[in-house]
Amino acid sequence: FPVDRIRNFCIIAHIDHGKSTLADRLLELTGAIAKTEKNKQVLDKLQVERERGITVKAQTASLFYSHQGEQYLLNLIDTPGHVDFSYEVSRSISACQGVLLIVDANQGIQAQTVANFYLAFEAQLAIIPVINKIDLKNADPERAESQIEKVFDIPAEECIRISAKLGTNVEKVLQAVVDRIPPPDHPFKALVFDSNFDHYRGVVANIAVFGGRVRKGDRIVSAHLNKTYEVNELGLLRPDEHPTQRLFAGQVGYIIAGMKDVKEAQIGDTLYLQEQPVEPLPGFKPAKAMVFAGMYPVDQSEYPGLRSAIDRLTLNDSSVTVQRDSSLALGAGWRLGFLGLLHMEVFNQRLEQEYNASVIVTAPTVPYRAVLSSAKLIKEHGSEEITIVNPAQFPDRSQVSEYLEPMVLGTILAPDEYTGKIMTLCLNRRAVQKNMIYIDDQRVMMKYLFPLNEIVVDFYDVLKSMSSGYASFDYENAGYQTADLVKMDILLNGRSVEELTTIVHRERAYRTGKAMCERLKDSIPRQMFEIAVQAAIGSKILARETIKAYRKNVLAKCYGGDITRKMKLLKKQAEGKKKMRRIGNIDVPKDAFISVLKRK
Ligand code: GTP
Repeated sequence: FPVDRIRNFCIIAHIDHGKSTLADRLLELTGAIAKTEKNKQVLDKLQVERERGITVKAQTASLFYSHQGEQYLLNLIDTPGHVDFSYEVSRSISACQGVLLIVDANQGIQAQTVANFYLAFEAQLAIIPVINKIDLKNADPERAESQIEKVFDIPAEECIRISAKLGTNVEKVLQAVVDRIPPPDHPFKALVFDSNFDHYRGVVANIAVFGGRVRKGDRIVSAHLNKTYEVNELGLLRPDEHPTQRLFAGQVGYIIAGMKDVKEAQIGDTLYLQEQPVEPLPGFKPAKAMVFAGMYPVDQSEYPGLRSAIDRLTLNDSSVTVQRDSSLALGAGWRLGFLGLLHMEVFNQRLEQEYNASVIVTAPTVPYRAVLSSAKLIKEHGSEEITIVNPAQFPDRSQVSEYLEPMVLGTILAPDEYTGKIMTLCLNRRAVQKNMIYIDDQRVMMKYLFPLNEIVVDFYDVLKSMSSGYASFDYENAGYQTADLVKMDILLNGRSVEELTTIVHRERAYRTGKAMCERLKDSIPRQMFEIAVQAAIGSKILARETIKAYRKNVLAKCYGGDITRKMKLLKKQAEGKKKMRRIGNIDVPKDAFISVLKRK
């Protein structure tokens, strides 16, 4: 395929504005998939995506399109919309020369529309604004267009009005891709922008070829490890693997080259031909983990299996950071870093669904910092300032001159009737207002500086429900600020549970401690003895709840001697136990560790 007839583009939008639906229509229109009900959202391949109805991983497909008598090759990269997954968006963007920026005609510009626009704008991509869902009764495309003009400085005439659902004007979108997005023109090299592990074939890398071509049998080098491989198979993604003999400049496809170890196909790596070495591509900005949690096997014998599952899953999602960790109660495990709480929950769910692994996740924490004053500790760490991702390793006040907490700049867009409620919510989360403007006569855009730990667990959910789903939210890092932090322990019958230790703001300690005890009281089932749940700072007890003793006799329900019924009940109880973690002599449900931090 001649390079001037190739277009690489992705679709970016706020969540639910219709990216996947438009992608389906584009695939149908170009004949890549048949038009049937079953093919709804074909690019959402993961089970968790279908269940939650969200896109988590960016997917790729090549389309053939005829325009004015010429055949074009259009490479489409679908992207997720939720805040937590913006890392995937910036990766998709680096493989493209243009984007379709979708805006829902009903909702107008939302927080991730703004965030994604700037990613594309900074990368100097061609931006095609698309107003979707014009078929809806309350659709107001004019308003969406004037917001686009006002906020992004793109003339309203450049917007294409469509209904992805009905297929209206989707053809115009394809024409615009050909007319407005430039063809790729880079020197020879290929960027690894995603990779998967296949049990039989080893690593399958998704690549964007920036120049030249690669064939089956070629010897290629990965710039990162400087290792040489032979290409066994390559091809296009339409969206299923479609083997070909070669891949050319501008094409996006997959390559299998005998990489056996998941660490060999680093996302962001450059591949080149052995006989034609090149300067590696700049790769990707490494993702910055914002939430950390410990992960442990339910039983230590499952450690090796869980390790390989985590290795393989992190190959597919390189934004997760992994460090080895261990805990007195839970044994050997890992401390993982995620982009947000949803990201962490999705990772956990994928481990369970795709790798059949059962894990315990500890209470999540953000990366705090401490400036050390103790000469001994400074020597031990080799630096004056340390990052604390495990609350159990929180240094004592006496060894520290200052604690710091991570801050983020949050953007909230909402109808103005919710402004008052949102301001109260933000104030309760220790946020400071930075800016507030009307983007049209009814919608307000507010900027707040938040401590990250105040928004990480449930801010988004609370904001959504208080605004009947109308407010949207996105955030970016905003450095660190001094904070008065303390370590709070949770005690079960007087014994501190390391996995529930959290770092809190001193003035918040009482409220958080009380809420955690109440939550635990609700989530730990009654047992054969009384359990005291306490929150403490050092030796000072802040709050206490008591779980009364109760003898759970599951057999009491079966009168008579129905033995199969009895066995069934016993089995059910045993399964219930598996979801529990024994701490001392107390059974704690596996999911209590995360839910304990959510506010009521
Ligand atoms: P994420 O992948 O989770 O970011 O969402 P998305 O942007 O891919 O949105 P998706 O395509 O899943 O569409 C969200 C919802 O909007 C679905 O219920 C679609 O059926 C609906 N939808 C998409 N396009 C249209 C349209 O043109 N008109 C109408 N009425 N509904 C649409």
